[in-house]
Amino acid sequence: MAFGYGIHQCLGQNLARLELEIVFGTLFTRLPRLRVAVPVAELPFQTDGIMFGLHELPVFW
Ligand code: HEM
Repeated sequence: MAFGYGIHQCLGQNLARLELEIVFGTLFTRLPRLRVAVPVAELPFQTDGIMFGLHELPVFW
């Protein structure tokens, strides 16, 4: 996750960080066995758009 920098640095980053703390806390409490289902080297990263990210993240729990 990144929130940019300089004059266009994300105005919602404090809210986003708070929401993510709640989301991940709740997720890992409810699904303590949650794991990535494939080796990291096999994850399909998206590098051709304006935003870097994953096309998919297979998981199991
Ligand atoms: C995980 C969640 C979020 C991420 C990763 C994120 C990321 C970013 C990034 C990278 C930028 C800079 C874009 C640029 O350089 O042009 C940005 C700008 C901005 N974000 Fe976020 N953001 C998130 C959540 C939010 C939320 C929750 C809000 C509002 C409630 C918000 C409001 C804004 C606004 C208004 C800007 C424009 C700031 C400006 O151009 O001066 N963002 N965000």
